[in-house]
Amino acid sequence: MRRFCVLKPMHTTNTTPPLLQRRAAAAALVLAPALWLCAPAQTRPALRATPMQTEGPFYPTVLPKDADFDLLKNGDQNYPKGQAAWLEGIVSDLNGKPISGAQVEIWQCDHDGHYHHPGDGGKADQRFQGFGRAVAGSDGRYRFRTMRPVPYSGRTPHIHVKVKLGQRELLTTQLYVAGDAGNARDFLWRSMSDADRAALAVPFTTGNDGIRANFPIVLAV
Ligand SMILES: [Fe+2]
Repeated sequence: MRRFCVLKPMHTTNTTPPLLQRRAAAAALVLAPALWLCAPAQTRPALRATPMQTEGPFYPTVLPKDADFDLLKNGDQNYPKGQAAWLEGIVSDLNGKPISGAQVEIWQCDHDGHYHHPGDGGKADQRFQGFGRAVAGSDGRYRFRTMRPVPYSGRTPHIHVKVKLGQRELLTTQLYVAGDAGNARDFLWRSMSDADRAALAVPFTTGNDGIRANFPIVLAV
């Protein structure tokens, strides 16, 4: 009997030369972090859903003719007041997967504190679109051209946000200006947890191309 045969593990069928096995093991160690980053989204930790807030009384009763992403141009009229700003972000699910086709709507008061709504007496400046809609692309991105929100009658600066997917209404909330001195006096702001405030308050920062705010929207879908 050829006794040396028992020196090999009997359960293995690996015929790869030892040198190649060591190289493969080393490569696995190097690639492991990269493979984790490339792992399917469902294996990563879940995000926190963007908190809901009240719709308030001024969602348009009739959507305006011009309801595109640019609130600073209503029809052929430009709105000259306030601080122009880009508002943008990504709509995703709890795993960070972009939600293509999500319809993001925003509405806010004009620089003098008036909404396009019968309940606000028709005082809003017609040059300010006041309401806009943008559809998230395949990467989940949306973008609006609007103005940095301003305060009105007891409210701190805010922009109302609603998100729909097809006929489903998935989220209604409000975004705030991080660091605004009026936040601490706002009744809705005061009712929020610290975590909700952190999710709904975004900085409006000035860069080379003007003021920008990034508002990520996370939906529990
Ligand atoms: Fe409001």
